[in-house]
Amino acid sequence: MSHLSNVWFSVTPLQVASGHGCWVTTTDGEEYLDFAAGIAVNSTGHAHPQVAQAIADQAQRFIHAQVNVFKHDLLEPLAAKLAEITPAGIDTFFYANSGAEITEAAVKLAKQATKRPNIIVFQGSFHGRTHMAMAMTTSKTVYRAGHAPLPGGVYVSPFPDPLASDQEAAINHALKAFDRLLLAETAPSETAAVIMEPVQGEGGYIPAPRAFLEGVAARCREHGILFIADEVQSGFGRTGNWFAIEQYDVEPDIICMAKGIASGFPFAALGTSRAIDDRWPKGSHGGTYTGNVLGCAAALATIDVLTAPGFADNVNARGAQLRDGLSAIMASDAGVVDVRGLGLMNAIQFADPARVAAIQKHCLEDGRLILMNAGTYGTALRLMPPLVVTADEVDTAVGAIAAAVKATA
Ligand SMILES: Cc1ncc(COP(=O)(O)O)c(C=O)c1O
Repeated sequence: MSHLSNVWFSVTPLQVASGHGCWVTTTDGEEYLDFAAGIAVNSTGHAHPQVAQAIADQAQRFIHAQVNVFKHDLLEPLAAKLAEITPAGIDTFFYANSGAEITEAAVKLAKQATKRPNIIVFQGSFHGRTHMAMAMTTSKTVYRAGHAPLPGGVYVSPFPDPLASDQEAAINHALKAFDRLLLAETAPSETAAVIMEPVQGEGGYIPAPRAFLEGVAARCREHGILFIADEVQSGFGRTGNWFAIEQYDVEPDIICMAKGIASGFPFAALGTSRAIDDRWPKGSHGGTYTGNVLGCAAALATIDVLTAPGFADNVNARGAQLRDGLSAIMASDAGVVDVRGLGLMNAIQFADPARVAAIQKHCLEDGRLILMNAGTYGTALRLMPPLVVTADEVDTAVGAIAAAVKATA
């Protein structure tokens, strides 16, 4: 009999014994190629020696130095590193342990800094599973159902459909709907912030079209609404830049980081400007484990690995290789409706969700390849390998997907 909660859903029935790079070994000795990477978390691969060593070394010194009681010697060095790699204007950091905690923190800061109550989110968004984050999440009802009442003050605006045949019309429609929201539902003077994933993650791995993201950001500037970039999934090198927002002409007021930041050690960071942070009343936010020293050590080691010469080039080259392979599969099968992505944040979308489930099963059982799906309709297969993935491993994954697509046609 299991003593574990029933609440976790399972992507595979596997019991992991160890991991190395892009590979995991199960307790029965089988090896699997991991293109889920802990849901886009294991940026440096499983058990990267530099990251493992940094955590082990730090654990010998001390494990927890509570941030209100002491300042430890990794807080400032990590903030200084983050200031170097985050977009211009971001120079002040708050730490937490998970993505949901950091999007919650971003909303709390935005409300305090603007003295306004409301938040705008986009259809298909995912910002986490705590109550406010759930209220801001619209990618699937399963995340929200049964939890009402959710916090109020959250307004939902459309996100352009990547499959719309007229992309310009889809973008204009979404921007017009945003304008209408400000006129009809939440006045700018009551709107603290917009929170947007530059590449929607759980919503289906959909890069925001440039004119849309930049159009929303321009409206935020005009009205004094803060622009929060939720880079929990798209950040930390996943898209071939440190952050996906760098691919747009926009400087966010607040940036949310988690997942890949510490290679799997639970850690998250919020970045903003000193001017905005100065409006966050002392003591109005915090948390027992915020600024955890093991997380800081893991994040510093992760940044070191990710800054190695040629690292981002590999992400971009492997991403292009993957999209080429997936595009060839698309050309051979009418059930594939889209291939898209940036860097190593890619999706292949099918018309039929049952087909996606069958392909995942085939890949796992025959290809020893671990994949996850995404999207409101479960029609996107997302490819999010560790960023250290090699050309051979990408070929192996594409081969397994091609075989599964053929077998399920
Ligand atoms: C964009 C985004 N924001 C927030 C979260 C929540 O992160 P966590 O699961 O660490 O709370 C996620 C998780 O998938 C995410 O993709």
